[in-house]
Amino acid sequence: MFQDGLLKGKNILITGGGTGLGKEIAARYLELGADLWIAGRRGGVLDATARELTAKHGGKVRTHAVDIRDYAAVDAMAQRIWDESGPLTGLVNNAAGNFISPTKDLTPNGFNAIANIVFHGSFYVTHSVGKRWIEGGHKGSVISILVTWVWTGSPYVVPSAMSKAGLHVMTKSLAVEWGKHGIRLNAIAPGPFPTEGATKRLRPGASFGESSKMNPMRRVGEMSELQNLAAFLMADGCEWLTGETIAIDGGGYLATGAYFTELDKMSDADWTKARESIKAQNDKDRAGRAA
Ligand code: HXC
Repeated sequence: MFQDGLLKGKNILITGGGTGLGKEIAARYLELGADLWIAGRRGGVLDATARELTAKHGGKVRTHAVDIRDYAAVDAMAQRIWDESGPLTGLVNNAAGNFISPTKDLTPNGFNAIANIVFHGSFYVTHSVGKRWIEGGHKGSVISILVTWVWTGSPYVVPSAMSKAGLHVMTKSLAVEWGKHGIRLNAIAPGPFPTEGATKRLRPGASFGESSKMNPMRRVGEMSELQNLAAFLMADGCEWLTGETIAIDGGGYLATGAYFTELDKMSDADWTKARESIKAQNDKDRAGRAA
C-alpha cells in the first residue's frame, strides 16, 4: 500500500509498544524504515519484542522500561531519547489499561488505576515530548489510540471512557495550540481488533463473534488495516491533517452505538467469574513486570 522507505528518517516513540496494537504498529513503522523507541512497564517483554521485530524487519528498535503514571520517569525517558537518538519526530500514545466492571463496584483505586495510565500518563508523555519539540524548534506528530466510545460513551468501562474522551479533547486542543510549532495531533478510534490484553480484560471467557455479527461489514478489524492508518497519519504528505480522531470500525459505532450494552445481561455470578479471570491476567502481567 505504501512506497518503500516511507518513514525513513523518522524517530518514533510508541508507548505500550511491547504487545498488542502497539507492537503491530511498531512492526509496520519498522518495515517502512522508521527508527523506533518502544516503552512499557515490562523491560523483558520490550526487549523480546525488539529482538523479534528487528530479526524480521531489520532496522533499529530501542527500549525503555517506564510506568507512564510517573511524570519524573516519563521526563527522564524523553531526555534519554533526546540524548541518545536526537529529537523524536513522532509519538504514538498507545499504552492503556482497562477492564470491564459494574461502575458501582469500582473502588477509587480501581478508577485511578485506569485514569492514571490513560488520562494522566498519556498527557505526561505528550507534554514531555511536546515541550522538547517546541524548545528545539522541531516539528512533530502525535497519534493517540482512542476508542469509538469517545463519541458514544460506554457502560461498564466508565474510567476508560472518561479518560479516552479527555484525550480526544486534548487532541483537538493541542492541534490548535501547537499548530504554529508544526506539531500535529491526531487519533485513531479502533473498533474490535482482537489482542490478548483487550480480550482477557474486556471479554473474559467470550469471543468477538457477536461483534462480528452486529458489524455492518460482518467482521472484526484486520490488523493490517490499523497498521496502514497509523502509517498514513505518521507519514509526510498530509500535514494539514490535524486535530482529528478517525474511527476504523467498519461503521460499527454508527450502526450499533455504544459497546458493552450486552453486559446488562450478566448476573452477579457472571461478574464474579469475569473479575477472577481479569485478576488472573493482571497477576500474570504483574509477574512479568517484576522479572
Ligand atoms: C474491579 C478491579 C478489577 C476488576 C482491578 N481492579 N481489576 N476492580 N474489577 N476486574 C482494581 C483493583 O481491585 C485495585 O483496586 C485497582 O483496580 C488496581 O488494581 P491492580 O491490579 O493493583 O493495578 P495494576 O497492577 O496497576 O494494573 C492496572 C490495570 C491492569 C489497569 C488494572 O489491567 C493493567 O495493567 N492493564 C494494562 C493492559 C491493558 O489493560 N490492556 C487492555 C487495554 S484495552 P483496590 O481498591 O482493590 O486496591 C483498552 C481499550 C480497548 O484500553 C478497546 C477495545 C475495543
